[in-house]
Amino acid sequence: MLKHIKVRPTKNEIGAIIDTELLNFNEIIIEEIKDALAKFGVLFFKNQKLDSESYIKFAKQFGDLAKYPMLKGLENFPEITVVEKKPNEHIMFGEGWHTDSTYTKNPPRFTMLYSIKTPKKGKGNTLFASQYKSYETLDNSIKKKIQNLKVVFSADGPISKTRQHLIKKGGTGIDPKSLKAIHNIVKENERNKKKSIYLSPGHAIRICDLDDIQSRSLMDLLINHQTKEEFIYSFEWEPNCLAIWSNYSMLHNPVNDFNAHRLMHRITIQ
Ligand SMILES: [Fe+2]
Repeated sequence: MLKHIKVRPTKNEIGAIIDTELLNFNEIIIEEIKDALAKFGVLFFKNQKLDSESYIKFAKQFGDLAKYPMLKGLENFPEITVVEKKPNEHIMFGEGWHTDSTYTKNPPRFTMLYSIKTPKKGKGNTLFASQYKSYETLDNSIKKKIQNLKVVFSADGPISKTRQHLIKKGGTGIDPKSLKAIHNIVKENERNKKKSIYLSPGHAIRICDLDDIQSRSLMDLLINHQTKEEFIYSFEWEPNCLAIWSNYSMLHNPVNDFNAHRLMHRITIQ
């Protein structure tokens, strides 16, 4: 029972809007936020005034902060990655369905995104696809088949083209081809034991222990299923919103449908 925060589930209960003032968090509020996050997979907090210091302080309540391997962070705050699209730019960082940094050995469990500048309401939304729901609705035979399967993830996967322009400006020099990792397809939430599909279409290269044709056809089947309309919630940004999601239970996809300045600060958490 959550007593200190107000939780308003979104459409289809894919995510929830939380009414609380993040600047004044305490241990009880953090525990309730963690419970809600485990239940819904993504949470949204509106009208939050967070400077970089208070943002980092809040993020640290969820675990150790990760550094994004391929881009330099914000000056004086290296844990913050600037996610920005200017009006004259066409490519948007992270466009396409994915979950963050799956090609690392210990991929971040959570991502936070704080909006500073946003296009007009309804443009530049972020889509979230619940992988709790996609797992729940799989045929039992597929659930059985994937239970112990693993996937190879690469930073040089399909989504890599959305960061090439940023690497030219502020890259760390790490070659995306050198970043690869293998993880289980099925994840289990440590708080509530709910299972989810962990397969990032932007980074997945192949399924281990299957031949090329079997691997491709199972990946296609899963990816088509993961992003069905009924599992998706589209969040409309406005300035000063914070979204937190579990990378183990959500896919996300920012919609590149605007010509305006969109500026976000991202933190990922191990
Ligand atoms: Fe992302």
